[in-house]
Amino acid sequence: MKRIAASFLPPIALDAHSGVPMYDQLSEWFRRAIIDGQLHAGQRVPSTRQLARELKISRVPVLSAYEQLFAEGYLETFVGAGTCVAKSIPGQALKSAAAQGRTTSRRAAAPMGPRNISPRVEMLRTPPQTWADTQGPFRMGVPALDHFPLSTWSKLVNHHSRQPTTAQMIYGDPMGYLPLREAIARYLGTVRAVRCEAGQILITTGSQQGLQICAHVLLDAGAPVWIEEPGYPGARQACRTLGAELVPVPVDEEGLDVAAGINLRAQARAAYITPSHQFPLGCTMSAARRLQLLAWASRSGAWIIEDDYDSEYRFGGRPLASLQGMDTDDRVIYVGTFSKVMFPSVRIGYVVIPKDLVSAFARVRDAFDTFSSMLYQVVLTDFIGEGHFARHVKRMRALYAERRAALLEAIACYAGGKLEPIGTDAGVQLTALLAPGVDDVAISIAAARLGVAARPLSISYLQPPPRGGLILGYANVSVHEIGQGMRKLAGCL
Ligand SMILES: Cc1ncc(COP(=O)(O)O)c(C=O)c1O
Repeated sequence: MKRIAASFLPPIALDAHSGVPMYDQLSEWFRRAIIDGQLHAGQRVPSTRQLARELKISRVPVLSAYEQLFAEGYLETFVGAGTCVAKSIPGQALKSAAAQGRTTSRRAAAPMGPRNISPRVEMLRTPPQTWADTQGPFRMGVPALDHFPLSTWSKLVNHHSRQPTTAQMIYGDPMGYLPLREAIARYLGTVRAVRCEAGQILITTGSQQGLQICAHVLLDAGAPVWIEEPGYPGARQACRTLGAELVPVPVDEEGLDVAAGINLRAQARAAYITPSHQFPLGCTMSAARRLQLLAWASRSGAWIIEDDYDSEYRFGGRPLASLQGMDTDDRVIYVGTFSKVMFPSVRIGYVVIPKDLVSAFARVRDAFDTFSSMLYQVVLTDFIGEGHFARHVKRMRALYAERRAALLEAIACYAGGKLEPIGTDAGVQLTALLAPGVDDVAISIAAARLGVAARPLSISYLQPPPRGGLILGYANVSVHEIGQGMRKLAGCL
């Protein structure tokens, strides 16, 4: 028989002066805990010897209580597994609990006093997202999981979890593991022309936390912040937790319309942008717009949050350097992630901080969650240092180029005239516009019913969208599945 794991018991309070015999108090406590669901069917309970020791009482009342509970059918013994809560609770016991109106929660049905929470929580509410629960083709933001070198990764995880140093097991630097920050600094300098030293790099739990920390350092309640329209909902949420005022600034094929932003709110505290691969329209911000944005930021004392989430994957055109690398006034905070280049649950991202803000960011990070879990930081350092990371990115670039081409071909073949792909050749997803007036949410819901995960473009807008569309991830879908998925999706259009 499978061994049942020992588990914790809720605290047992016995009253030696109550006049009720100890074994009665104990058996009544078990009955109630079982009926109220605090102890669940099949759960292992301590042996009589162990429980007597824990409660610091003689073993005799515990033996009597257990005997009574066995007789009533609340407890059972299994060979090799010890004493457990019975798999099925006596019907009589449940009936009498129901008659007495006992529920699994003993709390009052209606709360008494006010139960105030921050109104900002209401701002974080998102509409139900049927498509987000669908694991099928075109799910957004998922890299090719089955092509990740898992055996190499798990060897490193194994190695480091068996032999962690003391420094890796105790409280660490809120900025993160220094060798990883050094590796990231070298990588960003070479590949993205980011100008930084390891001391400016803060390791975060994914870029979402990076955005959250940026918001806490740079913004206040009511502070205006430019947000791309359409834009990344995660960035909007991060600013909303602070109660900042979101100023939606339109995006065209050259990226964020800086002149429009200045017209809307010249004195914004910060601007959030995705210049390398605009989320979700896919365009790359032109050099002229970049210079215009940097000039505005310098003039008005605003900060720029550059979210560079997937620019490792560029399939056409010249790679553009980061905005951070063009900045001469230390106005840009650069946010990056390993979610797309590795896998999202690795939860490692980073922020490149202007030197004079490093201590402010470190303090906020420390106040949030002190620092990121150490094991994956150490493993990732080796993964980069031993060349696995660079090899993986190179292989994925070729794979995603092939999948992207297959998706474009499938759109033309099955949905030509109904879906219009837009954006540059980059990233792990593309957006395809629907005909004017077509409801993209309704199509996403219909597609989800067929197992196709197409995210509606309209939820990326704060204001009514000019046109609906679908955001289609292609990185984690084989060429064969791309064809099948598009055939199903076309049936919904
Ligand atoms: C624009 C943008 N930024 C950042 C991220 C990644 O966030 P994280 O690193 O928290 O997984 C995503 C993921 O989809 C994204 O689309």
